[in-house]
Amino acid sequence: MDAFVIRGGRPLSGSIRVNGAKNAALPLMAAALLTDHPVILRDVPDLTDTRNMRALLVELGCQSDTPVAFTDPLSAHPAAHADRGPTAPLTLQTTVQTPHHARYEIVRTMRASVCVLGPLLARRGRARVAMPGGCAIGDRPIDLHVRGLAALGAAVELDAGDVILTAPDATGGDRRLVGARVYLGGRFGSTVLGTANVMSAATLARGRTMIECAACEPEIADLARLLTAMGARIRGAGTPRITIDGVESLSGADHTLIPDRIEAGTLMAAAAITRGDVTLTNCPLDALVAFTETLTTAGVTVEELDARDPLRARCRVRSDAPPAPAHVTTQPHPGFPTDLQAQTMALLSLARGNSVLTERVFPQRFLHVAELVRLGAHLEHEGPSVIVSGTERLIGAPVMASDLRASAGLVLAGLAAQGETTVRRVYHLDRGYDQLDAALASLGADIRRVRDGVPVAPARVGDFPAVPVVA
Ligand code: UD1
Repeated sequence: MDAFVIRGGRPLSGSIRVNGAKNAALPLMAAALLTDHPVILRDVPDLTDTRNMRALLVELGCQSDTPVAFTDPLSAHPAAHADRGPTAPLTLQTTVQTPHHARYEIVRTMRASVCVLGPLLARRGRARVAMPGGCAIGDRPIDLHVRGLAALGAAVELDAGDVILTAPDATGGDRRLVGARVYLGGRFGSTVLGTANVMSAATLARGRTMIECAACEPEIADLARLLTAMGARIRGAGTPRITIDGVESLSGADHTLIPDRIEAGTLMAAAAITRGDVTLTNCPLDALVAFTETLTTAGVTVEELDARDPLRARCRVRSDAPPAPAHVTTQPHPGFPTDLQAQTMALLSLARGNSVLTERVFPQRFLHVAELVRLGAHLEHEGPSVIVSGTERLIGAPVMASDLRASAGLVLAGLAAQGETTVRRVYHLDRGYDQLDAALASLGADIRRVRDGVPVAPARVGDFPAVPVVA
């Protein structure tokens, strides 16, 4: 199993491009199930999650003749990586419209597999998807997805841990969903992938669907852009009310993903925690307002260098002093993103004073707290909040990653800690960051990947076992 060995204390500097958004890529890829025509996606990041999604789509009758580009390990040295560009376009085309089962063996490796539910149901009239179960950040039910699709007329059954949805019979033996008013509010706000599922399904439903309390995340607006390019009729995506007028069929499209706001935020926090000076290109500043506001409160300078496209900006992040404390509450977009909570906790653990971080999206998402304490952070966990008493320094130690974003928080803490930090189980990190080790090394960090104690080149995703595809 891979680990990162980090010797902290080096300010990051230089320039780096933000990759395409993982969380946009997964529902966009699933949208290829809605049509028989080719869907071309540009800037899909090369990650374990996007590979596993491709494997799932192949199993569901989709062909992908353009391999996702690998980064040559020999060229994965810092300078080459700093100039990393978009990956090769990914073409997906559904040629067989019959399978409708997303198996547990795949879904359990990647919860986001659930986003095939809406497209399968809409196009094939039937979807059987293993219920994902909980994970390190909480219970993560899919009741809102199911409730939303049931509102469009789907019959719901449960069998052997799978949820089976069947669209109502239409004339001529066809099965087709029926537009309706759908409310997607839950205890913790709306649901991002649930909104993606219902919106995708409604594109082929008969009549009009209105999603109320829809997720407003930029990834939903990006999905709507792709679906609209495929011929869907959607208004209001990115707001709490989305209106979709169903069409008879969808065509193919060619679409470039939005940049990854969480990768961008992680790199910004890395610049801040190391008191560095980093310029990000292709940076979705417009999608990061709550986060950059917190950085500014903490005394970090965030400067927009090129305001032509606030979704693909060039921006400079620098800091030369310990951060000021801040109070942060995670919320659905446009509030502070839960996916940047752990990284922000690492930063505020070095603040000059006390901060409070409250988690309102995944209240159990605090497994990194005990690991940050091992590095010397002063943290007190109380219900959905953590009180962070700033300390002057963190001290390197072995720590264990528990989930994707928690791992990023530990890596950032390691970059600032005195001495050596080993972050174990970085496979969590490789699910969602394309070679974060190489990216940080290109900015001057002393970070090495080791496998069983032996240094290795930054991993290509192909080094990890992909989910086996059953022919
Ligand atoms: C997506 C993101 C994830 C991010 C999260 C919140 C992807 C691939 N993942 O996950 O990185 O952390 O949004 O911004 O895009 N909930 C229910 N019932 C449901 C669905 C969700 O109660 O049916 C709850 C969840 O447990 C959680 C909250 O609603 O407390 C938000 O979850 P949701 O927006 O669905 O997260 P995901 O879409 O799975």
